[in-house]
Amino acid sequence: MSNSQDDALPGSADIMVELIKVSKRYPPDVVALHSVSLTIPRGELFFVIGMSGAGKTTLLKLIATMESPSNGLIEISGSAIHRLRGAQLARLRQRIGVAYQDFKLLLNRTAAENIAISMEVSYKKPQYIAKRVRSLLDQLNLADKHSMIVGELSRGEQQRVTLARAVANSPALILVDEPTGNLDAVTTERVMQLLMSSHKAGATIVVATHDESIYRDRGCRVMELRKGSLVGIFEGQR
Ligand SMILES: Nc1ncnc2c1ncn2[C@@H]1O[C@H](COP(=O)(O)OP(=O)(O)OP(=O)(O)O)[C@@H](O)[C@H]1O
Ligand SMILES: [Mg+2]
Repeated sequence: MSNSQDDALPGSADIMVELIKVSKRYPPDVVALHSVSLTIPRGELFFVIGMSGAGKTTLLKLIATMESPSNGLIEISGSAIHRLRGAQLARLRQRIGVAYQDFKLLLNRTAAENIAISMEVSYKKPQYIAKRVRSLLDQLNLADKHSMIVGELSRGEQQRVTLARAVANSPALILVDEPTGNLDAVTTERVMQLLMSSHKAGATIVVATHDESIYRDRGCRVMELRKGSLVGIFEGQR
């Protein structure tokens, strides 16, 4: 059986994400992140917490290569991302699945089409894509929303479509921003089961969250940001 997580990214075998003294300033004078250093080994399920405005989304956008740091160095799987250009950068981005806090879905397309997009760019067979889309919708309790236009779905449903799109192509690195903010406890559990299955398949996963229930007692590392600075990294229960 092929494991796309293993062969997805070349470079360092052990470290997926490395930040060295990374800062991000937004004009005119917002310091969204201040000198954050962090190492995430390949295969880790890692949580980022902190109050609203602490810098969680900024951190994920930097790791996703959607924003550039003002200072410091970011390496993904051994490559310094500021050195990557064109095809190399595109290839790296294909191996990163991102579930954005504001979703960034195509609102006039169906749930299935939104999820399929991430697989179409890597030339997967249509039958495989169709099967994977149905399986993901089923796992997230959205089977009946397959052919619905995303703009007509509830926020919690859109949030799950966003997650399904992020994991669909089995990316090596999955970044998930506030995945359970609009969900009840039962649906939250579905979301976590899906993330855990990607984790077991070998993906490195970074989850930004306010929801203590999803990191409590999981035995994973939890990093706390406060006003852009790293307060500390705790193991499991806090
Ligand atoms: N594009 C931007 N331009 C200016 N300031 C920004 C921009 N993006 C974020 N910020 C600011 O940077 C800080 C960190 O924002 P960020 O979105 O990373 O916080 P967060 O921890 O994700 O918050 P939340 O829990 O509310 O999602 C905030 O003060 C925010 O206002
Ligand atoms: Mg945020």
